[in-house]
Amino acid sequence: MADLTTKIGKLTLKNPVLAASGTFGYGLEYSHYLDLNELGGIVVKGLSLHPRNGNPPPRIMETTGGMLNSIGLQNIGVEAFITEKLPDLRRYDVAVIANIFGNTIEEYAQVARRLSAVEGIAGIEVNISCPNIKAGGIMFGRDPGQAEMLTARVRKATLLPLLVKLTPDAPDISEVARRVQDAGADAISLVNTFVGMAIDVETATPFLSTITGGLSGPAIKPLALRLVWEVARKVTIPVVGMGGIASARDALEFIIAGAHAVQVGTANFINPSICIDIINGIRDYLHAKDIQNLNHVVGSLRIKGNEAASD
Ligand SMILES: Cc1cc2nc3c(=O)[nH]c(=O)nc-3n(C[C@H](O)[C@H](O)[C@H](O)COP(=O)(O)O)c2cc1C
Repeated sequence: MADLTTKIGKLTLKNPVLAASGTFGYGLEYSHYLDLNELGGIVVKGLSLHPRNGNPPPRIMETTGGMLNSIGLQNIGVEAFITEKLPDLRRYDVAVIANIFGNTIEEYAQVARRLSAVEGIAGIEVNISCPNIKAGGIMFGRDPGQAEMLTARVRKATLLPLLVKLTPDAPDISEVARRVQDAGADAISLVNTFVGMAIDVETATPFLSTITGGLSGPAIKPLALRLVWEVARKVTIPVVGMGGIASARDALEFIIAGAHAVQVGTANFINPSICIDIINGIRDYLHAKDIQNLNHVVGSLRIKGNEAASD
């Protein structure tokens, strides 16, 4: 059997397939559909210092090949996660990665510090697709300087493996990735959702209460894949790729493009045990190609002649 293990900093995952934040609850909700022990990891719903209600409905809608959401980072807060969810979650032999966010750099650091003080967290993923309230609402992830400052501060707050999750909305995502790496991140996750919108033509009103929302699912896969490929060539730390993955072949595309691991998001809503199918499909692919180790596939993209042109 091929070796599917992959390393994210000092964290070794048993396979490269993780459930993406916000699409897998706090993990336990899916325990009736699949054996959580078989996953490479679970990235839990984004956690903040205090509980949040999120945005009013409608805040979710299906689109061609994907979905729009404006959940608004609803969550139970870091304390309730630690007391109500983590005790059950840590009974599983699976890497639990806590996705965190905040309104200010200090809030991020406080959540990271709190999570570092408890048993059962394998790593922290920092969602930087949020506005910095203290810097005029500029999104941390759009600005390389803000992203660097935030990463450096969270780095000081925790010794846990640190993944920083980038927004595809950044004008220069490679520069954000480089600065985040320099500030001490162990890995880079990408991508978060793309900003989109939909209009009800009968009423000429937006479908979502917030007008715009985040687009995810197969519709974004080629866009996400291009960003993962681009960033993976620019950094030396591992990249965790995601965006529209719904099959083993999708996952392998990201791995060949340079991702050391992948996350599966929206596809969980269609098939809650899809992650297991993807893990098995990756194993079958390695077997069929007689490849002993997943790492031989990472970044194995072969480009003939000049680099790919856009047409
Ligand atoms: C309903 C929903 C909620 C999400 N919540 C979060 C979140 O709390 N934190 C985060 O970093 N990403 C969140 N995401 C983004 C996903 O983790 C993922 O980056 C994105 O959906 C792209 O992957 P996919 O196309 O496989 O879904 C959410 C996505 C969806 C669809």
